Amino acid sequence: MAVLRAQAIMKIIVVIGAGGNQGGSVARTFLNLPHWKVRAITRNPSSPAAKALEVLGAEVVQANLSDPDTLSQAFHGAHAIFLNTDFWATYRSFVATTTPKEKGPLDGEEFDPGKVAYQAEVSYGRNAAEAAATVPTLECLVYSALPAMTKSTGGKYKSHHADSKGAIADYIETELPDLAKKTSFIYLGAYNTNALLSPVLDPSDGKYKYFLPLSKAARMPIINQKESTGLFVKALIEDEAPGTKLLAYDTNSYLTYEQIRDIWSRASGKEADFVTVTVQFMHEKFKTPMELIQSVPALEEYGYTGSMKVIEPGDLKTAVRTKSWEEWMMERDWKAILEA
Ligand SMILES: NC(=O)c1ccc[n+]([C@@H]2O[C@H](COP(=O)([O-])OP(=O)(O)OC[C@H]3O[C@@H](n4cnc5c(N)ncnc54)[C@H](OP(=O)(O)O)[C@@H]3O)[C@@H](O)[C@H]2O)c1
Repeated sequence: MAVLRAQAIMKIIVVIGAGGNQGGSVARTFLNLPHWKVRAITRNPSSPAAKALEVLGAEVVQANLSDPDTLSQAFHGAHAIFLNTDFWATYRSFVATTTPKEKGPLDGEEFDPGKVAYQAEVSYGRNAAEAAATVPTLECLVYSALPAMTKSTGGKYKSHHADSKGAIADYIETELPDLAKKTSFIYLGAYNTNALLSPVLDPSDGKYKYFLPLSKAARMPIINQKESTGLFVKALIEDEAPGTKLLAYDTNSYLTYEQIRDIWSRASGKEADFVTVTVQFMHEKFKTPMELIQSVPALEEYGYTGSMKVIEPGDLKTAVRTKSWEEWMMERDWKAILEA
């Protein structure tokens, strides 16, 4: 009888991208909570990541963000949905499969992989939002977005991978008002593994250097995407009112580039210089795609969230404590990293 009663009050969270960085963190967090059942969504239920979640107790369900019918089935009976949309898989696949002739000028207008990935991601997000809007049991949707660059910088900078997520958030807020009343947004800081947090070895003098279109005063929020995402999503679902917009980053991990450089040096045991360069220099010298770097100067001019109003981890009703980026860096295998 007690078992039946416990089962009756269990809620279902549907996790999209459950085999990935963010979704995996959300799935593992909720699998540890006795009052939640986790429904892990994947396109491939026989993948190692899906199998591992099944072993931990998740119900694994096949669905595709490009196929609305599969989403309606996957969302049946859900009380909460965590939605993550991926930009980079479409971007990389377009770059890999389009022949050089078709590509036209690098990052040019006609065959811009950023535009293709933008359109795909927006359609995925809209499909998921429209399916979520029809779920009568739904109490909370959390969408993992990024601040819309063009909007939050008044048009000065653009970034397809941020603007796409901003467009999905706008769609929910303007076109699906009933769903919007149940929706919160999480804006993750830079992943702890983000290339913008590490210097490169300059072969001309053998020194490590941060080449960035920023000064050392620019600030970056940093998060351990695999460990911390779930903790913040739990706080949004269980403790915060819908409509919350949270900039999520780890404890003591909203850092200036001077601090980032100093932590990298303490952890690796190597000195690193900081060199302010232009976006064009990075694009030409390191072949960094414009999609990744064209909006980086906005970090200094407008801040990570631009003109958007967000709360930060310190504002949450229930504190979320995580390891800091510095603690995470100190635990890494620096011999292997420096030799790679
Ligand atoms: N790097 C950073 O610093 C940073 C910071 C903030 C936000 N982000 C954003 O994070 C996003 C990526 O998230 P992540 O790191 O968690 O990605 P990830 O580890 O690559 O996982 C992506 C997940 O999305 C699922 N997926 C992809 N296409 C799908 C589709 N059509 N239908 C259903 N599921 C689909 C995949 O599931 P299956 O393969 O199992 O189907 C996979 O589990 C990107 O959009 C990026 O812009 C990155």
